[in-house]
Amino acid sequence: MRTIRTGRAIRAWALERRESGQKIGYVPTMGALHAGHASLIRAAKRATDAVAVSIFVNPLQFGPREDLNQYPRPVVEDLRFCRQEDVEVVFLPHVREIYPGNFQTRVRVTKLTERYEGQSRPGHFEGVTTVLTKLFHLVGPDRAFFGQKDYQQAVVVKQMVRDLDVPVEIVVGPTVRERDGLALSSRNRFLSSPERKAAGALFAALTAARGMLRTGERSVKKVLDTMIRRVRDEPLARLEYAAVADPATLDEVRVVKGRVVLLLAVWIGKTRLIDNMVIACP
Ligand code: PAF
Repeated sequence: MRTIRTGRAIRAWALERRESGQKIGYVPTMGALHAGHASLIRAAKRATDAVAVSIFVNPLQFGPREDLNQYPRPVVEDLRFCRQEDVEVVFLPHVREIYPGNFQTRVRVTKLTERYEGQSRPGHFEGVTTVLTKLFHLVGPDRAFFGQKDYQQAVVVKQMVRDLDVPVEIVVGPTVRERDGLALSSRNRFLSSPERKAAGALFAALTAARGMLRTGERSVKKVLDTMIRRVRDEPLARLEYAAVADPATLDEVRVVKGRVVLLLAVWIGKTRLIDNMVIACP
């Protein structure tokens, strides 16, 4: 496995791969790798010939009061993880490599970013789409892999590559969960043991809503009330938002018909967690 730190070197690696007719798979990450990342890396390995993983904690996607400084950076473990997953290249740039002095450009998707994560975390998606534009230019992947756990992010990134004609296919892999249903996230490591238990409230709320929809409930209000109640029943949890939305446009739905996505953001102590479920309603 090669560790590459400069844009010039990752471009040269990608060029060599393309020239020898190989398809490049790419898994962008912020490190603190877990089984969710492993499943994306494995999907990338199945679908392409050469896989690059980037590890870059992107300062542009953190708000001024968010956890940029606390965000975990276990680089040695992450490199070991990638070696075990037989990744060909890890791109591990320094912040200055991605954002040299006098960096002034931003890439912003408009409508899709106005709600949910975009509303709760102003500037977050602009940071995500700006860094990904740059990373896609450097790596030039044929396919890039994202987790469904960050549902809105995946929809926003798909919109961005469509709008800007970025020649990459966005592949979304399923959320990987713990035994009690908690979605794997780099932020789970911040949870104390009682908080870890309380974090089960997110999955409980989503599965309760899913149960209602599967047994024919079509009232958005009733489904939302149930999700909200399940979160409020947990004393360590504080709901930030719950929504029933169209999976493509992310518009909140008035009447449940066809496929919907349930979206949830919840604070457990000082840790903010998100989760979602896409449900096909007959
Ligand atoms: O999902 C993430 O880890 C990040 O938002 C991403 C896509 C790597 C961009 O920094």
